[in-house]
Amino acid sequence: MTSEVRRAAHILRAGGLVAFPTETVYGLGADAASEKAVARLYEVKRRPADHPVIVHFANADLAFAWAHEVPEAARKLAKRYWPGPLTLILKRSALAKDFVTGGQDTVGLRVPSHPIAQQLLKEFSGAIAAPSANRFGMVSPTTPAHVREDLGKDADLVLEGGPSEVGIESTIVDLSHAAPVLLRPGRISKQDLESVIGKIGEKTASSPRHSGGLERHYAPRTPARMVPVHALDKEISKGKGVAVLAFSRPDERVDFWLRMPRDPQAYAQRLYAALREVDGAGCEQILVEAPPDTAEWAAVRDRLKRACEQG
Ligand code: TXA
Ligand code: MG
Repeated sequence: MTSEVRRAAHILRAGGLVAFPTETVYGLGADAASEKAVARLYEVKRRPADHPVIVHFANADLAFAWAHEVPEAARKLAKRYWPGPLTLILKRSALAKDFVTGGQDTVGLRVPSHPIAQQLLKEFSGAIAAPSANRFGMVSPTTPAHVREDLGKDADLVLEGGPSEVGIESTIVDLSHAAPVLLRPGRISKQDLESVIGKIGEKTASSPRHSGGLERHYAPRTPARMVPVHALDKEISKGKGVAVLAFSRPDERVDFWLRMPRDPQAYAQRLYAALREVDGAGCEQILVEAPPDTAEWAAVRDRLKRACEQG
């Protein structure tokens, strides 16, 4: 246990905000049992009060105490994937107050695997409410530098934990109704989940509110478009001031070109830092070569689609 972690736990107990590493992205944590601390969290995030946050725990037993009912499917998934990049939506117990659930009767629970997140949760020995440590609507931070860029002095402490390994936010599955529903794809795929609990549905208009479901949520400021590889050349020759994110080798007509990995997990890990880089390049538009339309690319395509939604 480092003294930084002890200091972080102390800040949380005093109602402060601590940014900390998880295996997915950096989170901005507050004591999930403190209305005041969570109110400050929403204020700093500039997040509407009716958007629920994910509550983080050191282990499944602690997490499930915040659920009113724990269906068999939740136990199976927890056994298989916790600690890890998975969030379960369950009916809440009395511990999950309106100020963390956005007034809904469900709560989002997660047990992260990052060693520093684990140390912090154990030292704090409570529940930590933590959205991604960025302002509302921006891409999530995957390094401590990103957190500082976004939040400046609004986080009372930023715990260092290196670049995030997964790079995109946790998979969210809603188990609060009879049929499980995938609310947000992630490193753990729909197919992975189905291998443990059977058929999972896609979200519909009546699925619960979640800000990851808002259009253009993970968005750079520069207008971005996904284009199929065969159209990339034509788009480049038409456009000026373009930045490109592509699998292929740089084209000399383009000022800013980021070559992305062909492996979906490596791509995800690199994605948000890449979007920040191209966004900072001072270009007029971003062209993204579309990844294959296959199951293994589902999570990356989901984030790219949102990045390309014009608000
Ligand atoms: O990987 C992650 O999940 C990261 C790290 C920090 O753990 N956290 C994260 O939090 O992505 P945030 O707040 O940026 O996104 C949480 C998503 C939102 O779309 C939120 O609305 C949804 O989870 N969510 C939380 N509680 C929910 C609930 N009760 N019902 C439906 N959606 C919920
Ligand atoms: Mg977020």
